[in-house]
Amino acid sequence: MSIISNCTATAIKDAATALIKGDLVAFPTETVYGLGTNATNEDAIARIYKVKGRPVGHPLIVHISSAVNIDKWARDIPEYAVNLAQAFWPGPMTLILPRTDLAKDFVTGSQDNVGIRIPSHTVALALLKEFESLGGLGVAAPSANRFGAVSPTTASAVEIELADYLSGNDKILDGGPCLVGVESTIINCTQDKPSILRPGAITKELIEDTLRISIDLNNSNSESIQIKAAGLIKSHYAPKAKVFLTGSPTLGDGFIALDSFATPTGAVRVAAPKSNEEYAQVLYEAFRLADLKGLKRVFVIPPTGDGIAVAINDRLIKSAFEK
Ligand code: TXA
Ligand code: MG
Repeated sequence: MSIISNCTATAIKDAATALIKGDLVAFPTETVYGLGTNATNEDAIARIYKVKGRPVGHPLIVHISSAVNIDKWARDIPEYAVNLAQAFWPGPMTLILPRTDLAKDFVTGSQDNVGIRIPSHTVALALLKEFESLGGLGVAAPSANRFGAVSPTTASAVEIELADYLSGNDKILDGGPCLVGVESTIINCTQDKPSILRPGAITKELIEDTLRISIDLNNSNSESIQIKAAGLIKSHYAPKAKVFLTGSPTLGDGFIALDSFATPTGAVRVAAPKSNEEYAQVLYEAFRLADLKGLKRVFVIPPTGDGIAVAINDRLIKSAFEK
């Protein structure tokens, strides 16, 4: 495995060639780092599951560079999905759509739908464009962490997570720290009305303003359709330290809260973001720092309000869930 810290045109070309061959390339996106491979290569996808330690059957998001290519992967695209794509792509949003025959069971977890995303990070977009120019059709990429762990938001976090599992030809592209910091908003677009399966930086308010309708969070009205999202498993996004969302830290416990909260006596401050946007950006690195320091417990004061706070609270609740 090699880490590419200078993502030149040549480096991107080498990485795209590696993807075509079926090697794995971890790459930065605006949300978190992804672990990518050729979405039409079954053996390569099998390696992703192995490297992540992820149970087989959890669907992967297919990343493409432009909405022009969406018809290759998805069919019967509702008008509201077209509107969402126009408003928020490239960006931190994944649309779940009815699949074409190109989206095989090994990508979709045998469901009749496929997750599609166009990321906005320049390195991700350059990699996808180069991959497509070499004949590739899409890059399947889950977050580049071991299953159930915290998503990486830096290249060194990817290395710490996956170095023991990647092989010689695999690569990690370093594109700096991710700006959003939490995973993309996942929107179910397989029904008459969209619903949010995983909250993210494309918030309920943004979606409602764009579509001029009210929408549901967490797919509450659609238990009948089979949507499998690993993000819906309750214990997820968790550090090794035990996360508490209530109570006060005592001597040697970690502490995460907005900057306006003072650090309780004896606690170890691992993040003090100045806004909810910064909170999302630094949360996973704060969890990693707590683990690096060997802290056993981390106390968190969750952000309040809507917008990105909803996504942060979603991840916090899952990280605090008893394993
Ligand atoms: O921000 C992101 O979305 C990052 C970057 C790398 O793009 N990717 C990411 O992938 O978070 P992953 O695999 O860690 O989480 C994707 C979630 C999983 O919970 C998966 O089950 C769900 O999306 N998902 C993917 N395809 C789906 C589908 N066809 N139907 C329902 N859920 C799907
Ligand atoms: Mg993930």
